[in-house]
Amino acid sequence: MEKVYIHDKAFRPLMTALTIQDRIEKMAGELNGLYAGKEVVLLPVLSGAFLFAADLCRHLSFGPEVEFVKLSSYGKGMASSGTIRAVLPPPANLEGRHVIIVEDIVDSGLTSDYLREELAACKPDSVAMASLLYKPDSFRGQTPPEFTGFVIPPAFVIGYGLDYNGKGRELNAIYVLDEA
Ligand code: PRP
Repeated sequence: MEKVYIHDKAFRPLMTALTIQDRIEKMAGELNGLYAGKEVVLLPVLSGAFLFAADLCRHLSFGPEVEFVKLSSYGKGMASSGTIRAVLPPPANLEGRHVIIVEDIVDSGLTSDYLREELAACKPDSVAMASLLYKPDSFRGQTPPEFTGFVIPPAFVIGYGLDYNGKGRELNAIYVLDEA
């Protein structure tokens, strides 16, 4: 795999498309065991989770409904702004159902905390989060993801849904900022 160049930065490969897809299949297998027979709403967080959610849900056997939320914590650039906005709020019909939030990445955990608090008001039977990536060294939230694809170091990553100033989401693999 080669480096990619986006705007003013170079990014080197961190994980291949195959590695990602293998892990997603395994995570789906785990979810299939735990959620069989339950009323589940899959709740991808737009925009970053769109590829992960699309690939994950194709391996799920418990027939989830799929709804979306759109939250935004990053402005332009590479650091979280710390301010979360609900651009598209959670759906109203979550009472008595099991919610699986689908995220591309949990970084500071602020987005996750915000969303979990919003969802608690909707009285679901349970809430869990499946995040493809998790940065424990950056995390300062209340609840880490219940299902994690990959634990990664606190570096800036793009690809497979994750962007740098709007670009790079379409890449099949994940790349890390090349600081060399
Ligand atoms: C990213 C990502 C998570 C959040 C994680 O979204 O998709 O939702 O940041 O960061 P945190 O753990 O520090 O809160 P972003 O706000 O960049 O929006 P996007 O998904 O539309 O790119």
